[in-house]
Amino acid sequence: MKTIIYYYSKSGHSKNYAESLANRIVCESFNYKKMKYRHLKDFDTIIFVAPVYANKIRKVNKFLKLYKKIKNKNLIIVAVGMQPPSEDRRRTIITVNLLDDYHIRLYELIGGFDANKLSWPLRKLMKFGLKMAIKKDPLLQSQAAMVGTIFDAPREYNDISGIERIMDTIHRLEQASKVI
Ligand SMILES: Cc1cc2nc3c(=O)[nH]c(=O)nc-3n(C[C@H](O)[C@H](O)[C@H](O)COP(=O)(O)O)c2cc1C
Repeated sequence: MKTIIYYYSKSGHSKNYAESLANRIVCESFNYKKMKYRHLKDFDTIIFVAPVYANKIRKVNKFLKLYKKIKNKNLIIVAVGMQPPSEDRRRTIITVNLLDDYHIRLYELIGGFDANKLSWPLRKLMKFGLKMAIKKDPLLQSQAAMVGTIFDAPREYNDISGIERIMDTIHRLEQASKVI
């Protein structure tokens, strides 16, 4: 089974996950800008890894635009975000990104955060977004100090169990491709 991985990454976490998956699978990973049908057509499995910003998977539209041409392949989206996975969050990501319309496997990995790696408009936007969220949500109000520290100390997370879940699927797909 031939697999290829594409990623979008602003501060490196999604890129690191794409590369660690590529090392495990033994395949190549590329920046999403190289994602063109003529490169994809020879592969059985295509993985797209990108961060979640305000519940939207960044650059996912570029991947979905190719869907009609690649829908007979194994398609996997890996959404990287700071929020821990939950049923509610999964449903929100599916709804916001209209993934119900496609036959694509969705996985979530817990990412990291480093405000220093963001451009200042993005940093400002995020600070404002957090301020608004804290204002609205009583649970966040009680955690405001903790939420505020997100800007002072970079957070790193290596979602080993999430990577294992994706690898289980890859192994199952590999087995299935041998049976056919
Ligand atoms: C503007 C902005 C919005 C974000 N929104 C979300 C979000 O809605 N849900 C979430 O889980 N993480 C959110 N994050 C956290 C990122 O998804 C996380 O930092 C991710 O690891 C970044 O990946 P990258 O290093 O590949 O760019 C947001 C980050 C930024 C900068």
